[in-house]
Amino acid sequence: MVIDKRSAALVLLVCAAALVASAVGDGPLLNGNFEYPPNQSQMSGSKVTGENAIPYWKTTGTVEYIGSGQQQGDMILTVPEGAHALRLGSDASIQQQISVTRGLYYSVTFRASRTCAQDEKLSLTIVPVTGYPVQSGEPLPIQTVYSSCGWDAYSWAFKAEAGIVSFTIRHPWQEEEDEGCGPIIDAFAIKTLNMPQPTQNNLLTNGDFEEGPYIPPDCKSGVLVPPMNEDDVSPLPGWMIMSYKKVVKYVDTAHFAVPRGGRAVELVCGVETALVQEVYGTVEGSWYRLEFSVGDAANGCGASADYSSSPGMKVKAIAGASETTVDVDFRGAGGSTRGKLEFQAPASPTRVVFVSLGYHTKSDNSGTLCGPVVDDVSLVAIAQPSARRLLL
Ligand SMILES: *[C@@H]1O[C@H](CO)[C@@H](O)[C@H](O)[C@H]1NC(C)=O
Repeated sequence: MVIDKRSAALVLLVCAAALVASAVGDGPLLNGNFEYPPNQSQMSGSKVTGENAIPYWKTTGTVEYIGSGQQQGDMILTVPEGAHALRLGSDASIQQQISVTRGLYYSVTFRASRTCAQDEKLSLTIVPVTGYPVQSGEPLPIQTVYSSCGWDAYSWAFKAEAGIVSFTIRHPWQEEEDEGCGPIIDAFAIKTLNMPQPTQNNLLTNGDFEEGPYIPPDCKSGVLVPPMNEDDVSPLPGWMIMSYKKVVKYVDTAHFAVPRGGRAVELVCGVETALVQEVYGTVEGSWYRLEFSVGDAANGCGASADYSSSPGMKVKAIAGASETTVDVDFRGAGGSTRGKLEFQAPASPTRVVFVSLGYHTKSDNSGTLCGPVVDDVSLVAIAQPSARRLLL
């Protein structure tokens, strides 16, 4: 028997109606890209009128089903993936139940674009269906478009406190917001995060950045990791993004030059964002060596947005009370160099910090923000350097 696409879609809709929690492997959530057509009896034009109109999702508030090419005034709305996406009006949300493994960590990747010039926020929440406390971070700022294509891929992470969790993404209520505004969201995917443990050969966790959020295969723009409160789960195990509102970009070898392995972090927001790890394995007063790679992602990064005279990029590394600055000058063509810093540990933990000292955009005039990449970071104990011993 040949099953045509329409009856396959119908089978999926019936499953959706049964509200089965979707079980996760790494990859897209069920109807995570909103390509399954909505139930027309719960639609009015492009507006969703019933909470179960979008297969596999439950919606609240003003939600609009956006098709690619759809116009609003003079503007063509951006659909980040495929032919359809959703727009969340003020205080609107969508929700899906996901079956996970209790105790494991997960990251969610999705794409968002703004429809108006104002700042937007999206808040993500995980609620264990069996009644544990709500887990939610600060709302993610969707205020800057980092890529020239009109949307960005964002990541967020949580620890599963139950086997079935309810994942919600909400556009928080905003005063005086125009009806036609509100972010467009698309391409939801999930990935289990492993938690690499520090060893004697590297006191850092995930120093090579190989563990991190899901990067869709077609994602030429990398995945943004937003700033988090210190006690939230980071999509980059071991690392925290410290910033008021700005991000770092997680990149892979499929679309960028990466100093080592498959993945690295691109520092795209200058001194406004720090990539930080707190290392608990150090002993106060003992000596350590921090080594790391800084490089050029081969994405044509180089034009300096702050008009400084040097086209090169600089990364400052800080460990405890010591610091070093490494120049990155590969003219947007890829390449990396090693940096080194020997230091005496302060009281535990030792804070390791990387910051890009400049603002850079791609030299194609697209205005896309970019910066140096950091990779392959290690921290090891060393004998007390002899020159220092003489000084003491
Ligand atoms: C579509 O929505 C109507 C009205 O709520 C409902 O009766 C019907 O079962 C839905 N169809 C599917 C395929 O979910």
